[in-house]
Amino acid sequence: MDGAAFWNRELVLPDAAATLRLGREVGLRLALGQIVFLIGELGAGKTTLARGVVAAWTGHEQETPSPSYTLAQGYDGPRGILTHMDLYRLNRPEEALELGLEDAMQDGAVLIEWPERLGFYAPQRRLEIALSWQKAGRLARLSHKGGA
Ligand SMILES: Nc1ncnc2c1ncn2[C@@H]1O[C@H](COP(=O)(O)OP(=O)(O)O)[C@@H](O)[C@H]1O
Ligand SMILES: [Mg+2]
Repeated sequence: MDGAAFWNRELVLPDAAATLRLGREVGLRLALGQIVFLIGELGAGKTTLARGVVAAWTGHEQETPSPSYTLAQGYDGPRGILTHMDLYRLNRPEEALELGLEDAMQDGAVLIEWPERLGFYAPQRRLEIALSWQKAGRLARLSHKGGA
């Protein structure tokens, strides 16, 4: 599947293992300079997906704590640094800059839970995965914003 097809579809994730699998696929494709917004309510599966991305990016399974208190966590991999952010507790959009958002975007790949908190600082060009509830599992909508 080419990048355009991958990032323009909907898929059902019947269980958490499917969410992890999607995360791994994303992690294999992710390149430096790409930003992925993980959108969805509390419990939608954003951190589960991020765990899969981190595992594929670093090449091994590891602890992937939800950065809900530290807000940002970096992971070194053969392709560079992946930064996982959870901005739920961000008080002001400017705080994201203090966390190093711009450097993270410039030098690496970035995954962001609760990107709504970025307000004005949200990058126009980004990939999005929106997770919502669907019967037993979740629905994932993958899309591309702001041009190619
Ligand atoms: N596709 C899925 N179907 C059912 N449960 C899921 C699915 N994906 C994740 N979960 C479960 O949902 C719960 C919340 O996941 P989590 O990734 O912490 O959500 P979030 O980070 O969005 O708050 C976890 O128990 C996780 O195992
Ligand atoms: Mg989370």
